[in-house]
Amino acid sequence: MDKIEIEGGIPLVGEIPISGSKNSVLPIFTACLLTAGSCKISNVPDLVDIRTTCLLLEVFGASVDHDNSSTYTIDCSKLTSFEAPYNLVKTMRASCLTLGPLVARSGKAKVSLPGGCAIGERPIDQHLKGLKALGAEINLSHGYVEIEAKRGLTGGQVSFDLTTVTGTMNIMMAATLAKGETVIKNCALEPEVEALAKFLNKMGAKIEGAGTNIIHIQGVNSLFPAETSIIPDRIETGTYMVAAAITSGDLSLTGANVKHVNEISDCLIKCGCQLDVKVGRIRIIGQDEIRSTNIVTSPYPGFPTDMQAQMMTLMTLAQGTSVIKETIFENRFMHVAELRRMGANILISGNSATVHGVNHLSGAQVMATDLRASASLILAGLATRGVTTVSRVYHLDRGYENLVRKLRAVGAKIKRVSSP
Ligand code: EPU
Repeated sequence: MDKIEIEGGIPLVGEIPISGSKNSVLPIFTACLLTAGSCKISNVPDLVDIRTTCLLLEVFGASVDHDNSSTYTIDCSKLTSFEAPYNLVKTMRASCLTLGPLVARSGKAKVSLPGGCAIGERPIDQHLKGLKALGAEINLSHGYVEIEAKRGLTGGQVSFDLTTVTGTMNIMMAATLAKGETVIKNCALEPEVEALAKFLNKMGAKIEGAGTNIIHIQGVNSLFPAETSIIPDRIETGTYMVAAAITSGDLSLTGANVKHVNEISDCLIKCGCQLDVKVGRIRIIGQDEIRSTNIVTSPYPGFPTDMQAQMMTLMTLAQGTSVIKETIFENRFMHVAELRRMGANILISGNSATVHGVNHLSGAQVMATDLRASASLILAGLATRGVTTVSRVYHLDRGYENLVRKLRAVGAKIKRVSSP
């Protein structure tokens, strides 16, 4: 299993190009299942989760082609299976995004139920509630959810009990081919939801209101193939913003969308960073002294849970005390124990972490439990004099394209080492 070794304490200076958003590619790829034709998706990052999604599409009979470039051609003309097997779903929960498109296109879907994961239980009851409201019959057995709509889906009223990003996407996709109108209430507002709606509308869907909390969808008989380019990854952007802040560096993030990282920018400004924003580029200049700030995660446009671990690492080195409250997932403090091993002073009480800033962290061997926790440990390593070794880097491979290469290009002493 590979490890990442970092000799920290170097201010990072230069430019980092931001890749396409992982969490936008996943639903857009599964949306291709809705049409019997060939869609073209560009600006796709090279990530393990993307490869898993391609395998999943191929299991259904799709053909996926990308000639080693970031433009993918996905042809779902002939679907031969409607079953997402356990071995793929267990490695990527977002596999449940195939439920809506499969049942809409073919009237049936069988998808392994995703279990809990390192950050929480993560049920899919809201996805199922939505599909039921569109007339689907749902049967749970042997670890699989089987969905059937023999005469097709029918438009309906869906009101989510809580805000769910992939739940909103799943029902939106299912409703594109349902008979009549669907109204979805309490929708997620994330930019990835809006990007998906834009792509579906290019395919001929009639969706209004994506990006607000009520979405109206007028069902159509069929969708046609379309092309799109993936939006920049706002969590990758935020992670490199923290890299500049924590190393007193000066980074320009090219291809970033500043509107999607408003909360992160505000937070970093409160910590004392300077920001210079131009269209498609964010320059962030870190200072020697980091000020503490409190953070509460919440659905978009609030502070993203996917940036909580990275901001916590920054707060471990801030002047004073900060309180970080995680409101989205019940178990997203797994990085705390590892940060403590590097000298951080963090106390957990329920869903709050109180971080007392320390003068420095010390390099250590650490291990990550999930994607964003891994990123937080890399950031800690970049800020620390001495050597930090982060193991279980397969988590990072799921969501950060060329992380080592991008950080080396701005001066970091970081390398990937193979270990038996
Ligand atoms: N929830 C339910 N029932 C449901 C659906 C969700 O109780 O049917 C709960 C979840 O357990 C959680 C909360 O609602 O406590 C919000 O979950 P949501 O459904 O919004 O999360 P998701 O759609 O499964 C996406 C991202 C996550 C990101 C969350 C929150 C993708 C593929 N994943 O997950 O990304 O943390 O939204 O913003 O888009 C990551 O990239 O590292 C990552 C985990």
